[in-house]
Amino acid sequence: MAKRLLVRGARQLLTLRGPSGPRRGAAMRELGIIESGVMLVEDGVITNIGPARRVENLGAARDAEELDATGCVVMPGFVDSHTHLIHGPPRLSDYEAQIEGKSYKEISAAGGGILWTVKMVRDATARRLEAQAGADARRMAACGTTTVEVKSGYGLDEGGELKCLRVAAWLDSRPLEVIRTFLGAHVTPPEFSGHADRYIDWLISELLPAVAARRLAQFADVYCDEGAYTLAQARRYLSAAKDAGLGLRIHAAQFQDLGAVRMAVELGARSVDHLENLDLRDIDMLARSPVVATLLPGSVFHMGLSRYAPARALIDAGAAVALATDYNPGTSPTWNMQMVLALACTQMHMTPAEAITAATLNGAHALGLGGLTGSLEAGKQADFVVMGVPDYREVPYHFGANHARVTVKRGEMIAGAKEYKES
Ligand code: NIG
Ligand code: FE
Repeated sequence: MAKRLLVRGARQLLTLRGPSGPRRGAAMRELGIIESGVMLVEDGVITNIGPARRVENLGAARDAEELDATGCVVMPGFVDSHTHLIHGPPRLSDYEAQIEGKSYKEISAAGGGILWTVKMVRDATARRLEAQAGADARRMAACGTTTVEVKSGYGLDEGGELKCLRVAAWLDSRPLEVIRTFLGAHVTPPEFSGHADRYIDWLISELLPAVAARRLAQFADVYCDEGAYTLAQARRYLSAAKDAGLGLRIHAAQFQDLGAVRMAVELGARSVDHLENLDLRDIDMLARSPVVATLLPGSVFHMGLSRYAPARALIDAGAAVALATDYNPGTSPTWNMQMVLALACTQMHMTPAEAITAATLNGAHALGLGGLTGSLEAGKQADFVVMGVPDYREVPYHFGANHARVTVKRGEMIAGAKEYKES
C-alpha cells in the first residue's frame, strides 16, 4: 500500500507552479500561492495539491498520515546549487586576519586561503570528511535545504580529489540529495606551483578521464579569475570535460571578468556562478541564453565587500537567476539559504518572491533537476519545508533566524519533526 502524507493547514502554500524551464523576469515574482492549501504525497511524490476542500475529500487523503502546518508557510525545499561542502575545519585565523584588514590574496600568500584547506583535506581520512560533511548536510536540512550541489577542489591530486568525490557520493541521501561537481581546476596545487598549464594538462590527461570513467561527478567546474585560471586554461579544461560527458559550470567574474561568461555560454554550460564583477555589456547575451546565472551573496557579505552581483539588471533583462550559499570555509561559511535570501533582498534588491524562486526552482534548473524538484506540483518529488511564519516575506525579513520547522525530502521528514510535534 502506498505511503501517504497529507500536509494540512498551511496559511500559504507556495507552489511555484507554471511552465517547465527556469523562471525569468516578471515570472520570478509569481509564487503560485494557494491560501489554506493542502498537499497530498504518495510514496514520496506529490499527487495532489490545491484548496483544502477538494484535496481533503479525496479517497486517498483519508487514511494518510497528517503533517500539521497550521498557520505556516509551506514552500519547496531549497536547492543549494553551489557549495564546497567537503572542506574539513573552518579557517578561523583567516577570518581574524580579514577582520584586521588583510585581503583574500594577502591571506593566501601568508599560507592561509584555499591551499591551507587543501592541506587539511589531503591529511584527513575519508571518515573524518564524512563526519564534517554529514554534520553540515544535517544543518542544511534543518534550515530547509533538500538538494545540494557538492564540489571537490580541495584535494587537487588524485588521492584527494577522488576521496572527496567518493565522500560526496556517500553523502547522497544523508539526508540531502547530492549532485557532484569535479573542481580539480580550483587552484594550482604546490606540486605544480608556477606551472598552471602543466597542471591543467595533467588534469585533462589523467584525472578528468578517471573521474568520468568512474561516474564520480555529473559536472565539472573551473575557477576562472585573477589568481586562478586564465580564460584559455578554463576553455581547454571545460572543453575536455564536455568531451568526457560532464555538464559544465564555472566560477566567473568573482574578482575580475576575464571573459568567462561569454565562453561558458558558447560551450553550453549549465550555470555561470558569482558574477560580482560581470561586464555589464554581457548581461543581454547571458539573458538570451539558457545558462543559469547563480549568485552567491554570502561570499560578498562574509568578505566584507560591497560589490554584489547585478541581480536587478540580470532579472530585468530576463536572465534565469539562481541563488546559492557557496558554503566554503574561506569566503562563505554559511549553510543557511534563509540568510542568502535576506542578503539577496536587502543587498541585491531582489524581491522576497524573486529570491525564493531563485533559491528553489531556478536552483533546480541550474543542476538539471527542474523536472523533479524546486516546485510543488503533482508528479514532482515531495521536497518541501514548513516555515514557522504566516507570510513568506517574513523568511528573509527576520534575518539571521532559522524559520524552518520541518523539512521533508521525497516524503520523508529529514529535519525538525520532533521539535515541531512538541511545539
Ligand atoms: O567560491 N572562489 C573560489 N572558491 C571559493 C572560495 C574557496 C575558499 O576560499 O576556500 C568561492 O568563493
Ligand atoms: Fe564557490
